[in-house]
Amino acid sequence: MKIIVTKDYQAMSRCAADLVQACVEKEPQSLVSFPGGDTPIGMLEEFVSRVNQGVIDPTGLKFVQLDDWVGIGPQDEGSCSHFVSTRLLAPMNRPFADRFLFDGSRRDTIDQQLEEQDAFIRRYGPIAVEVLGIGMNGHLGFNENGVDFSLRSHRTPLSDVTKSVQKKYFGGQDLPLTEGITQGIAQIMESELVILLANGARKAEIVSKAITGPVTNEVPASILQKHPNCVYLLDQEAASLL
Ligand code: GLP
Repeated sequence: MKIIVTKDYQAMSRCAADLVQACVEKEPQSLVSFPGGDTPIGMLEEFVSRVNQGVIDPTGLKFVQLDDWVGIGPQDEGSCSHFVSTRLLAPMNRPFADRFLFDGSRRDTIDQQLEEQDAFIRRYGPIAVEVLGIGMNGHLGFNENGVDFSLRSHRTPLSDVTKSVQKKYFGGQDLPLTEGITQGIAQIMESELVILLANGARKAEIVSKAITGPVTNEVPASILQKHPNCVYLLDQEAASLL
C-alpha cells in the first residue's frame, strides 16, 4: 500500500485526477469506477474539466457506479446515481462508451440490477481504476462492518453509523433508508488500481485504524492492506493520526 499525503483537499483532488488520468491514458478502453459522497467532488470537477479541455478522452472508457441507497433513484437529490449524473455524466462534453448506474427507487428490480452490475464488471473488467471514499465506520461503498469479503454486487442493511451520517446528503432530512446496494469487496480487490480518498480531521481515526490496525471485516477498508496496488490519498488532516 502506498500512502500519499497532500497539503489540503484541493491538492488531494488534483492528485487523484492525475492518477486516474495516468491510468486511463495507459488503458483508454478500460472500466473505471468512482464513488459518491462528499469526498470525490473535487476530483470529479478536475476529471470533468480535463475531459472538457480534451486532456482526458472518455470515449473508450466504461463507467460503473459504486453503490447506492435502496428506495431513492436518479431523480432524487442525494442518491448516488443523481450525484454521478449531475457531477460527472451531464457536465462531460463527450460521453463514456458505456456506463452502469443503479436505480434504487425500483425496489422490485434490485436483485436484477445487482446481477446486471456484476455482469457489466465481468464484461468490461477488471476495473482498471477504482476510486473509493471511506465511511466513518470504515465502510467501502456499502460494504458495512462485518461484511463477507468474498461477496460481489449485493444488497445490505445499513449500519447505525451510516444511518446517522446519511442526512448530510439529504439537506439534513432523516429519510427512512435502511438498505444499500454496492459492489462487493471481491470486485474491489480484483481492481487493478484502488485509490482511497479521505480528507478532514473527522476521518483521521478511521483512516488510522484501516491502515495500521488488523485486517478485519469490522473495519472493511482494512482489507486494502492486502491489495497489491492500492494508494491511500489523504489530506494532512485525515493523515494526522498516522
Ligand atoms: C457513503 C457512501 C460511500 C462513500 C462514503 C464516504 O455513505 N456509501 O460510497 O465513499 O460513505 O462518504 P463521504 O465522502 O461523504 O464522507
